[in-house]
Amino acid sequence: MSWTRETRYRHYREMTEAEEQELLEKVSKSIWRQKFHIQPPYGLLNDPNGFTFYQGKYHLFYQWFPFGPVHGMKHWYHVESEDLIHWEEKGVGIAPEYDHESHGIFSGSGIVKADLLYLFYTANKRDQDWNRVSSQSFAVMDKQGRFTKQEEPVIPKQPEGYTANFRDPKVWKNGNTFYMIIGAERENHTGCALLYKSADLLNWSFQGELKTDFEQFGYMWECPDIFQIEGNDVLILSPQGLEPEGDSYHNVHNSGCFIGHFDKEKYYFQSNAFQELDAGFDFYAPQTTQAPDGRQILVGWMGLPDTSYPADKDMWSNCLTIPRELQIKNNKIYQVPVKEMIKKRGALTTWQGNLDGEERALDNFLGAVYELNGDMTVEDGIAGLKLRTGKEEETLFYLDTKRQKIVLDRTNSGVPTAVDYGTVRQTSCTDNKISLRIFMDTSSVEIFVNEGEFVFTSRIFPQEESKGIKLFAEDTAASFALNKWDYTS
Ligand code: FRU
Repeated sequence: MSWTRETRYRHYREMTEAEEQELLEKVSKSIWRQKFHIQPPYGLLNDPNGFTFYQGKYHLFYQWFPFGPVHGMKHWYHVESEDLIHWEEKGVGIAPEYDHESHGIFSGSGIVKADLLYLFYTANKRDQDWNRVSSQSFAVMDKQGRFTKQEEPVIPKQPEGYTANFRDPKVWKNGNTFYMIIGAERENHTGCALLYKSADLLNWSFQGELKTDFEQFGYMWECPDIFQIEGNDVLILSPQGLEPEGDSYHNVHNSGCFIGHFDKEKYYFQSNAFQELDAGFDFYAPQTTQAPDGRQILVGWMGLPDTSYPADKDMWSNCLTIPRELQIKNNKIYQVPVKEMIKKRGALTTWQGNLDGEERALDNFLGAVYELNGDMTVEDGIAGLKLRTGKEEETLFYLDTKRQKIVLDRTNSGVPTAVDYGTVRQTSCTDNKISLRIFMDTSSVEIFVNEGEFVFTSRIFPQEESKGIKLFAEDTAASFALNKWDYTS
């Protein structure tokens, strides 16, 4: 299929039954469909949007282009859940209707007011010369799940001094005032975020640029999100255009956070360090919401902009991460799989033992969909796990105590993905004993190290029969204590 402007900018309602059947058939033959991650029925998924708890349920939307595995006319696809684990597909929530959103409903967020869920989004339009025109608008969802769109945008365009790359409103309430933060690009092509204020969610006044100590930090800030965790202010961003630095920022674009203090009078976010959120290959545009019990829960897009994936040939692309609870320890962000995940645990297998300069296949540990927990101690050298092993395939995850690195290597994971950006990721770790929680799904792996201190999130595209798990200790002694639970979908 060749993609042109005409085929990329089609509304979902234009899809014929025959087209849908063809898409469903292609998707049903895909060997990489996920078992416990949110994925599109067909077409392309990107950012999580409108993540909120409303009327006893978590509501989550994602950016969706229905017609194939490319970025085109975006809709918001709606899923809901009572427990963050079992998600029910509700279909399209918000679709383009008006001229100012003729080229898609871009990312945004949700907030509950007076029994209604307000869903703020960026209305994306291309004019006759294909110049972008961005405005901010909203739709309201009521208790019955009906959506009503606002006809006119509440913020019709960007302020002076900024380009039309002005998107991804995140709204929150402080006292009686609502605030909105929007990702933006200055006319000098540097990234920043802009702040607005409102008393009623309808009338918004521009407050200025969010001041930070990171004035020159990428060319465009996407998907900003501000919230508090135990008295700390946190600002999450997906800045585009960061150059690789040491082990950081090796993907086409990367996401991270500032932890510090947000001065609401001066609109100054004080923090001296940007912490990359993920050490793996495929993680972008995360969004958080607060659960009724106070936990701040994050979901990310397990994919990247400007990147094609092997499952594209089956007419679907990308999925979301599992939900993670954010915590702060020693001024560092931690991501912990939400406690509800244990509900997925089925049959348990355990293994405990030592290796010394050898490799061992764990014969009773086969699988493609599971949670693998445990500890690993490496005396002095390289030791770790080989996951999804097959005749020629393996995904390596190991500790290298001599170099003090934790490494994820997808060089031989299966069908190659985004190899121009390298096939190995690593991060510094001075421990020689680490704890692990590995969430393996048909075509992804999420590895949480040391209770969420480091996370490696990656798509992998192995053959169906690559289900082995091996342990190895190259030039050292190492000990492992592992529990594996099969997951049901
Ligand atoms: C991030 C992003 C957002 C935008 C959306 C469009 O991946 O580029 O900035 O709103 O995707 O799909």
